Amino acid sequence: MARKLTNSNAHFEKAVTRLPLGVASNFRYWGEGRTIYVKHGRGARITDIDDNVYVDYRMGYGPAILGYAHPEVDRAAREGMEVGGVFALSTEREFTVANRISKMVPAAELVRFSNSGTEAVMAGLRVARAYTGKDDYVILEGGYHGLFDAAMWFTPMDKWSQVGDPEVRPYSEGIPVSTRSFAHFVQANDANQLEDVLKRHAHRIACMLIEPIMGNCLGIAAEPEYLRAARGLCDKHGVVLLIDEVKTGFRVARGGVQELYGIKADLCTFAKAVGNGYPISVLAGRADIMRKIGQGVAHGGTYTAHSVSLAAAEKTLQILDETDALERIADYGTRLRAGMRATLSARGIAHSFVGHPSMSGLYFAQQAPRNYRDWKGSDYSFYDAMAQVLHDEGVLCEPDSREPWFVSAAHDAECLSDTLRAFEIAVDATLKSTGASRKVRA
Ligand SMILES: Cc1ncc(COP(=O)(O)O)c(C=O)c1O
Repeated sequence: MARKLTNSNAHFEKAVTRLPLGVASNFRYWGEGRTIYVKHGRGARITDIDDNVYVDYRMGYGPAILGYAHPEVDRAAREGMEVGGVFALSTEREFTVANRISKMVPAAELVRFSNSGTEAVMAGLRVARAYTGKDDYVILEGGYHGLFDAAMWFTPMDKWSQVGDPEVRPYSEGIPVSTRSFAHFVQANDANQLEDVLKRHAHRIACMLIEPIMGNCLGIAAEPEYLRAARGLCDKHGVVLLIDEVKTGFRVARGGVQELYGIKADLCTFAKAVGNGYPISVLAGRADIMRKIGQGVAHGGTYTAHSVSLAAAEKTLQILDETDALERIADYGTRLRAGMRATLSARGIAHSFVGHPSMSGLYFAQQAPRNYRDWKGSDYSFYDAMAQVLHDEGVLCEPDSREPWFVSAAHDAECLSDTLRAFEIAVDATLKSTGASRKVRA
């Protein structure tokens, strides 16, 4: 079934006259003839303006953890609206939500709110720098931490020749070259390399910025012993461990990746799932570090802790904490993997799943990747081709294999059977269109 995108394409023609790329965020532009405009989302499904309905596995890149237009969260948000917005003053609910976060995440001794993941990580880096009196930071190849200059250096692995180290480049034009010198890149799961970098440069390094399940890189997961080693090395070298839980927070466990691994961050950041899509993010951490805020470190903003977002966060976190939503999400993800595995194995296609069942990466090679360089060894072009057919068949995954599949509490048995039917069609169509040479035998 090839979808009709007549209305989306017509709208794109109009939108591009007023909005760069016809969208509000570069990542929403999927090319001419392929950029989709949404009419509405309900539960785990999105309807576009051509009335194509999709089972969604992007979920806004993770926020809609309970599903789109969740009645209880939206009711809470409407009550939050009655409070009046923002006042350049605080409300009592900030304390209530901060308490819930501290209960769920023991490392969150003190809490501050922001509006986006970018803002929270940016604030975290600032606090770490202020606390340590140092400027540099360690970052993992393949890590993504938002759209601020310091975090916008990366290793474009698609350009890597698989010989030597990949080049470090800015994500964007307009990033001052001077910001490059602060970042020290390491590969995931190589504690020796981390130790070497810290031994040589710790006198300049304020923090290690790490997303232990890389939500923008297939869901590549830190091995528990690597994370334990990183924790120990940071302590030894006076480096703040800043765990970015913008995607994993309140998703992979009630206490996020820190609960899953039994590890405590010095500072940690949350966004996405906090408010089920309402804009709110969190910087939290050790009291002695967080107390730098107000004692030298500036933090705040006009829209911080908006009454609508805060009320949505209170309800979302209550549901995630007090119901079995996260268990149901993980169970769906496990069944989704099993169904996909059956289709792929029946066709002899080498594959593995990476990350957590609530945010799975599908990787076309037998051995799961341990770091971003491994991605280069997978048959990712098979994924790219398959994703286009999945869209036509009513399953919305990211067109790029590096984005995991996000599951929400609204994904139900019908979503699963629709997805697995479409998946089988998409795999077969891709095998046919890309030819037998593409087929990687298990
Ligand atoms: C791990 C991580 N950190 C930070 C960000 C930036 O968050 P935002 O897009 O809300 O600014 C993202 C966004 O996807 C992310 O995945």
